[in-house]
Amino acid sequence: MSILPTGNEKIMLRLDKCLADCGIASRRDIKKMIQKSRVWVDGVPEKNAACHVDPIGQVIMVDGQRLYWKQTFVFLLNKPRGVITATEDKKLPTVMDILPERMQRMNLVPVGRLDRDTEGLLLLTNDGVLAHTLLTPKKHVDKLYEAVLDKMPDLDAEKRFQEGLVLADGTVCRPAVLERVICGVPTACVTLVEGKFHQVKRMLQAVGSHVVALKRLRMGPIHLDEGMAPGAVRELSEKEVRLLYRDE
Ligand code: URA
Repeated sequence: MSILPTGNEKIMLRLDKCLADCGIASRRDIKKMIQKSRVWVDGVPEKNAACHVDPIGQVIMVDGQRLYWKQTFVFLLNKPRGVITATEDKKLPTVMDILPERMQRMNLVPVGRLDRDTEGLLLLTNDGVLAHTLLTPKKHVDKLYEAVLDKMPDLDAEKRFQEGLVLADGTVCRPAVLERVICGVPTACVTLVEGKFHQVKRMLQAVGSHVVALKRLRMGPIHLDEGMAPGAVRELSEKEVRLLYRDE
């Protein structure tokens, strides 16, 4: 079970681990930085990488800048089209490749998957248990998608979504919500509590519409910021992280 620290418990960690958790540099470079007195603890240079510190209660400075260590980091990426949701790939650019270097060193994992041509909200965290539990259909963490379509879905589409649609290959989907969006182009919003392969595209195909563009707008209590550019990333606020753990 992953537990969000209350802030009251005292955590003791190796100094080099604190820096590594925050993505400051590679483990090797962190050791060198410590040896060169670039890391200070409570106002004193600390040359022992293995010494144990309280990363919340003590003041750790790296090159004169305060280090804010956290047990759980959660970031929101507005995933652009054209990158795949994976931590590494030999051929294609991944969501990790487009993150700032520091974040690339933080052992983050994507919370679920968006197709290469899907854009929108993708959470990334160093808490693998949180990532896993947020994706369990049992937890009912809902995800909202906006789909631009070639044409509006069949008339009975809402009802079929509500009842739990069966896809062409026999896959049974949990009940979902379909809402038609009244705007210039055929558009629909879909809310799901699960994440089967190409699920939104396949469900919409089953009710007569081809998805032209797909964007995830929300996951549980976390919304994609309006006006956030594709490729932009921000850390979740403490309040948002607490909401996520509550959903978990
Ligand atoms: N459903 C899809 O079809 N694609 C995604 O990327 C996410 C949900």
